[in-house]
Amino acid sequence: MKRKVMRKKRDNICATGVRLYRFPKTKVHGLKFVFSPDKTLPQRVLWLLAFFVCMGLLFTWSWNRILYLMSYPAVTKIKMVWAHNMSFPAVTFCNHNLFRVSSLTKADLYHSGYWMDLMHQNHTVMERSLALLRDNHKYSLLNLLDFNGYTPSPHYHVNTTEMIGRLGHQLEDMLLECRFRGGNCTHQNFTTIYTRYGKCYTFNSGLDGNPMLTTLKGGTGNGLEIMLDIQQDEYLPVWGETDETSYEAGIKVQIHSQDEPPFIDQLGFGVAPGFQTFVSCQQQLLQYLPPPWGDCKSTPIDSEFFSTYSITACRIDCETRYLVENCNCRMVHMPGTSTVCTPEQYKDCADPALDFLVEKDNDYCVCETPCSMTRYGKELSMVKIPSKASAKYLAKKFNKTEQYIGENILVLDIFFEALNYEKIEQKKAYEIAGLLGDIGGQMGLFIGASVLTILEIFDYLYEVKWRHSHLFYHLKVFSSSGVGVIC
Ligand SMILES: *[C@@H]1O[C@H](CO)[C@@H](O)[C@H](O)[C@H]1NC(C)=O
Ligand SMILES: *[C@@H]1O[C@H](CO)[C@@H](O)[C@H](O)[C@H]1NC(C)=O
Ligand SMILES: *[C@@H]1O[C@H](CO)[C@@H](O)[C@H](O)[C@H]1NC(C)=O
Ligand SMILES: *[C@@H]1O[C@H](CO)[C@@H](O)[C@H](O)[C@H]1NC(C)=O
Ligand SMILES: *[C@@H]1O[C@H](CO)[C@@H](O)[C@H](O)[C@H]1NC(C)=O
Ligand SMILES: *[C@@H]1O[C@H](CO)[C@@H](O)[C@H](O)[C@H]1NC(C)=O
Repeated sequence: MKRKVMRKKRDNICATGVRLYRFPKTKVHGLKFVFSPDKTLPQRVLWLLAFFVCMGLLFTWSWNRILYLMSYPAVTKIKMVWAHNMSFPAVTFCNHNLFRVSSLTKADLYHSGYWMDLMHQNHTVMERSLALLRDNHKYSLLNLLDFNGYTPSPHYHVNTTEMIGRLGHQLEDMLLECRFRGGNCTHQNFTTIYTRYGKCYTFNSGLDGNPMLTTLKGGTGNGLEIMLDIQQDEYLPVWGETDETSYEAGIKVQIHSQDEPPFIDQLGFGVAPGFQTFVSCQQQLLQYLPPPWGDCKSTPIDSEFFSTYSITACRIDCETRYLVENCNCRMVHMPGTSTVCTPEQYKDCADPALDFLVEKDNDYCVCETPCSMTRYGKELSMVKIPSKASAKYLAKKFNKTEQYIGENILVLDIFFEALNYEKIEQKKAYEIAGLLGDIGGQMGLFIGASVLTILEIFDYLYEVKWRHSHLFYHLKVFSSSGVGVIC
């Protein structure tokens, strides 16, 4: 009752006042009671206390939220996506053996015997190699190694690329059968690629005008099935133990996306002859956030050789630069235009340098995670091939002995487990919108104010400054009225 009268009186003053200006009503609760003449002193002190406690809570909690935003939190989301069709990955495989014995010529042996560890650098054949060959009755190779009266052609120029291409295992000879989604495929459906294992072959590389293949179903029948003859008879004999010596027989396989070059010596898995190996794949799409949320590399790749960034591309790029710096040449599988290492350079510089880089130097090639990559999870299982029942049939079919079939044949099946892929995504956990929502909620909770209320206060302060001379008067009226109608 009393308040009403008072307000009426004030309104009258306003109406009749010479200088009349209005402020919007303040929505900051609590403050009005502090200055209200209707309240007793203890009540006003309590209100003041309550006001400051609420302001304190508001600021600490808002500060906490701001700090949380500044820590750039991220969450990882995993979801399974079902697709109608999926693009088939690139499948690269290499025989474990670099050179075929039967295709070696005298000139090849003369120039690369040192690299193959059967000769000294001065082109004299090591006695232990000769002894080993005599023990194994490899007379054709012994004949080739007889350099009595041999003078190398003065114009002969070793082309390592050409040599590895010619001496490597040829797909026409290795590939016995090939099927993709029930249809036949041939060696023409593979692309030749060089890796540290020499001449390798990629199925579905997306290059050479071959369209990218897709699968429409999961399961063995909808993938790739190849039967290979690994040609162990052609393996170069092991003469001694060096870092490069390999005792294994079989192939190395890598399943990778078409955007990534193969890196088979580091990332491939082995497939043994005498077995049919089933590889059931599950595609995973990984997406990371760049700094400050995550640590993936968001800047484009700084390389003359690759256009898409991947860890593999980065490592091959780095290894190439390292070799060109240290040996003045590049290996056959490396990109670029610098000269290819000769067999001597391979033996004396390139192989040891690359081994050192891969095994010991952890600082030179540091490759960041790409922001988006495709992985293939694999499950391997195998059965014996040939069975006792099929050995005779296969021997007859391929015109080989049963023993040869057992030692050299392998079947590889690569297929999708199901037509789905896993999407693993790193996401920002907290952003500006969330921060505003939180601070707004706390302002509502603690002081019952909104952004507009704050604007009102600023507006009031501005007016106060403008009407500087009336500062005291305004404050008094503002606080005592608590409703913001000021004259
Ligand atoms: C695979 O699916 C895409 C769309 O999801 C479609 O454009 C494409 O034609 C499909 N490919 C095949 C072979 O069905
Ligand atoms: C070639 O070098 C090896 C050791 O490096 C040596 O034992 C051999 O006598 C040399 N042969 C010739 C013909 O110089
Ligand atoms: C080496 O051989 C490859 C393929 O046979 C050829 O492309 C390249 O030009 C040759 N390099 C030299 C230096 O002759
Ligand atoms: C695939 O090749 C086999 C022989 O290897 C042949 O019997 C079959 O008819 C071929 N299938 C097609 C679709 O060409
Ligand atoms: C293999 O290549 C031939 C032509 O070179 C093509 O007609 C066929 O579709 C290809 N097969 C697969 C499975 O890519
Ligand atoms: C089977 O192989 C032997 C040599 O390994 C060859 O002499 C013979 O002609 C081959 N037979 C057929 C039918 O290809």
